[in-house]
Amino acid sequence: MSSLFEEVAPDPVGEVPTRRVTITVNGQRRAAEIEPRLLLAHLLRQGFKLTGTHTGCDTTNCGACTVLFDGHPIKSCTMLAVQADGHEVQTVEGLASSQQLSPVQEGFKQEHGLQCGFCTPGMMMAATALLEENDDPTEDEVRFALSGNLCRCTGYQNIVKAVLWAAAKKRGVAPAEEE
Ligand code: FES
Ligand code: FES
Repeated sequence: MSSLFEEVAPDPVGEVPTRRVTITVNGQRRAAEIEPRLLLAHLLRQGFKLTGTHTGCDTTNCGACTVLFDGHPIKSCTMLAVQADGHEVQTVEGLASSQQLSPVQEGFKQEHGLQCGFCTPGMMMAATALLEENDDPTEDEVRFALSGNLCRCTGYQNIVKAVLWAAAKKRGVAPAEEE
C-alpha cells in the first residue's frame, strides 16, 4: 500500500500526484511531499511522528486531534495538510519548554485532570488557546472553551479545575501544589 506522505522525498513511483508543503511545527520548519487528500492529523502523526495528537473519530466530534493553527485551536482531522502549507502548527509536544511543563500541563498534573489520557492532548491545546486570550476565565468560560472536546473518563470536573489552576498560575497567583 502506498504511503500518503514522504517527508522531503518525492513519491518515488510518480503514480500519485503529490504536493510539497512546508509547515512550521512547534517552531521547527518541516517539509513533506504529500497527497492532497492527506489530513493534517495524519501528517502530524504518521509523517512527523508527533503522536501526541490523537485521532478518536476523524469526523470533527471528539476534539482529540485539536492543535493550534496560527494560534487558534482547530481539529486537525478536519483540515487537509495542504491547507497548512506556510502556516504554524503547535501540538501538545510543543507545550513544554526545556523540560518545564506549561501551566496547563502542570494544572492537569496537579488537579488529576486525566484518567486514560486519550482526550488530554486535545483538552490541553484547547485550554492553552483559551488562556492565551483570557487568563482569568470563569468556570463557565472554561466549560465553553472545552465544549468541543469529549472525555469519556473524568466527568470533566477535574479538567475544569486543572484549567482554572493553570489560569491562576499564569496570573502569578500561587495555586495549591501537591507534594
Ligand atoms: S479525531 Fe478529530 S475531532 Fe475526533
Ligand atoms: S481521560 Fe480518558 S477520555 Fe478523557
